[in-house]
Amino acid sequence: MPDTTRHVTMNPPDDNNAIALCNSADLVERGEAVPFDVVYCGRTSRGFAIRFDNRVYAYLNQCSHVPMEMDYQPNRFFDSSGSWLMCATHGAMYRAETGHCIGGPCRGGLIKIALTERDGVVHWHTGPNLQPLEF
Ligand code: FES
Repeated sequence: MPDTTRHVTMNPPDDNNAIALCNSADLVERGEAVPFDVVYCGRTSRGFAIRFDNRVYAYLNQCSHVPMEMDYQPNRFFDSSGSWLMCATHGAMYRAETGHCIGGPCRGGLIKIALTERDGVVHWHTGPNLQPLEF
C-alpha cells in the first residue's frame, strides 16, 4: 500500500522545535487522546496525541475525506476494537501508528505531527507548516 500519510516535518525532530504537550502518564494505551492547538498552514487547528502499542503518535484532527474533526466524543478516536482510528462522521478508518487510510471514504492519510517522549514528558514538534498557537 502506498504511503499516503502527509508528513508535516521532513527532518527528524530535534529539541529546538519541541513543545511540551503532556506527561507520559496522560496518554493511556488506546485510551483518550490529548488534544492540542496548532497553526497548520496559517490556520488554527487542533491536533491529538494517542498511545498505541506503547508508542506515542499525533495527528492533525482533520479527516482526509472532508476536512472536519474526527472524534465521536471529545478526545475519543479509537474504534470499539481499540485497533484503528475512526472518523465519527462517515466512518473513515486510519492506522494508529501511521495515519494511513485502511477503509472507508478516506482521501489519503492523516497529517502526522512528530512527537517525542523522554523522561516522562511528551513533546510535539513544530515544522515549516506547523506552528504553535500564539496568545
Ligand atoms: S468526514 Fe471523515 S469520513 Fe467523512
